[in-house]
Amino acid sequence: MTAQHELISAVEGDIERLMADHIEKRPTWYAHDLISWEDGRSFVDEPWDESQCTISPEVREALVLNLLTEDNLPYYHFSIASHFPADSPLGRWTRRWTAEENQHAIVIRDYLMISRNCDPVALEDDRMATISKGWDSPWTDPVDIFVYTSAQELATRVSHRNTGVKADDEKAYEIMKRVAADENYHYIFYKGIVAAMMQHDPSTCILSMKKVYENFNMPGTVVPRFRKRAAHAARAEIYDLRIHAEKIIAPVLRDWKIDKLEGLSSEADQARSDLMAMPDMLVARAEKLEAKAAKRAS
Ligand SMILES: [Fe+2]
Ligand SMILES: [Fe+2]
Repeated sequence: MTAQHELISAVEGDIERLMADHIEKRPTWYAHDLISWEDGRSFVDEPWDESQCTISPEVREALVLNLLTEDNLPYYHFSIASHFPADSPLGRWTRRWTAEENQHAIVIRDYLMISRNCDPVALEDDRMATISKGWDSPWTDPVDIFVYTSAQELATRVSHRNTGVKADDEKAYEIMKRVAADENYHYIFYKGIVAAMMQHDPSTCILSMKKVYENFNMPGTVVPRFRKRAAHAARAEIYDLRIHAEKIIAPVLRDWKIDKLEGLSSEADQARSDLMAMPDMLVARAEKLEAKAAKRAS
C-alpha cells in the first residue's frame, strides 16, 4: 500500500461524515421543473436554423462546451471508481456523485434543445466524438485525485455560474445557478477529504498540490474544437487564465490555509512557497495575454 493509499484509509471516517453532510444539505431538484416544455417544437416539421437562437454565439459555445464536458462522465466515474473498492465509502460516494453529475448534462441538454440555442445535429455529432475519444485522467494516486477534483469542481462551478450570468436569459440563469450550486457541494466534499488528509500528512498533500496545479487541465480538452470554444468562453469572460488564478487556485489554497501548515518536510515547505506564489504568477501570465489580445484588437 502506498503512502497515499494509507492516507485515504486513515480518513475513511471523515469521508463517511462528509458524505452524510452532503446528502443532508444538497437540495433534491428535478431537471423537468426548470425547463419550459411549452416552448418545444418539432425539429422535423420546423428544422433548426441559427436565426432561432436567442443567446450570443460566445455563450452558446460555452454552454455546449460545458455540456459536452459533463457528457464525458463515464470516464470521470472510471477515473475515481477504479481506484477504490465498490463497497468502500468512496465507492458509495462515487456512485452517488455520478448520479448527480448526470443530472447536469440532462438539464443543460433539455434547455438547449427546447430553447433551440444549439444545432441539434452538431451537438449529437460532437457528443459522439467526445465520448468516443474518451478521457484519461493523469492522476491515479488517491491524494492527487482529490487535489485535482477539488479544483476541478470549483472551476466547473465558476464556469457554469458565469455562463448562466452571461447568457442574459432567465431560464439559462436559473439552470446554471442550480448546476453551479451542485458543483459547489462537490467542491466542499472533495476539499474536505484533502483537509482531513492534511491533518495526517501535510507534506504529502502539499507535494501533490504543487504537482497537480502546475499541470492542471480541465477534462473538456478532449471536446472537438476545444481551443476555439475555450477562446469564446474567455472572450465572454466566463473562464480564462485570470479567473483560473483568482477564482480557483487562490481560493482553494486559502480554504486549506496552507500558509498556516506546520510540520512540513523541507521539500514540502519549498513546494508550499511555490504554491503560494502561484496565483500571482498566473495573474502576471494572464496580464501578458490580455495585453497581447488588446494589441490585436486595436
Ligand atoms: Fe457537473
Ligand atoms: Fe461536480
